[in-house]
Amino acid sequence: MRTIMVINAKGGSGKSTIATNLASYYACKGNKVTLVDYDPQGSSLAWLKVRPSINRPRIQCIDGTSATVNPGRGTGYMIMDAPASVHGKDLNNLVRHARTFIIPVLPSPMDMRAAADYIREIRATRLISAKKGKICLVANRGRDRTRIFWELDEFLDRLREPYIAALSDNINYVRAVDKGLGIFEMAPAATALLRAEWQPLIKWLASKASQP
Ligand SMILES: Nc1ncnc2c1ncn2[C@@H]1O[C@H](COP(=O)(O)OP(=O)(O)OP(=O)(O)O)[C@@H](O)[C@H]1O
Ligand SMILES: [Mg+2]
Repeated sequence: MRTIMVINAKGGSGKSTIATNLASYYACKGNKVTLVDYDPQGSSLAWLKVRPSINRPRIQCIDGTSATVNPGRGTGYMIMDAPASVHGKDLNNLVRHARTFIIPVLPSPMDMRAAADYIREIRATRLISAKKGKICLVANRGRDRTRIFWELDEFLDRLREPYIAALSDNINYVRAVDKGLGIFEMAPAATALLRAEWQPLIKWLASKASQP
């Protein structure tokens, strides 16, 4: 079973968006998927509540803040949505649940600074310092041709962890949340470019490089 956590200390960086879209992607590919929400805000749980129960692949849901995390037999992917602002001992305990980590970063000077600090904190956790987990970086809500986006691009390129994908700022992500869907379940014509942007991340997640 693959265990993938989307994590960043900054609120609003796209953790729940990436976690829910990834869960929907793997479910659509025929995998048994569990989505674990460790955030008391419960954004991923809310997404699952509005998810259509017919004509869409089922995704198992676990509230990581209260329940014991026990995915069903045959689960292929356990996708975890982390809360913002987890540090110190709590961070050490949280990261123990996964072996692969996706860190989304927004094109904003404050988010970039905070991400650099947080990546250092994650590197220092027992799990990552013992080389038992792999991290990748994803630029989120990019707007092409904006200077701050290129600054984010260069910033992520300079970090030690692999910078794998850049996702656009697009209204279809907001629409998908409303419907309990992922962009891979929406009209292909409207989401073709967005889907293409996910391919490097999906490829990395399928590769040995993403597994310790
Ligand atoms: N690529 C994107 N394009 C458009 N809107 C986006 C994108 N990514 C995220 N959003 C929107 O930005 C807001 C914050 O995203 P999200 O909830 O995924 O962040 P988060 O890191 O989980 O936040 P929190 O720390 O509060 O849990 C949401 O309204 C979401 O729909
Ligand atoms: Mg969230």
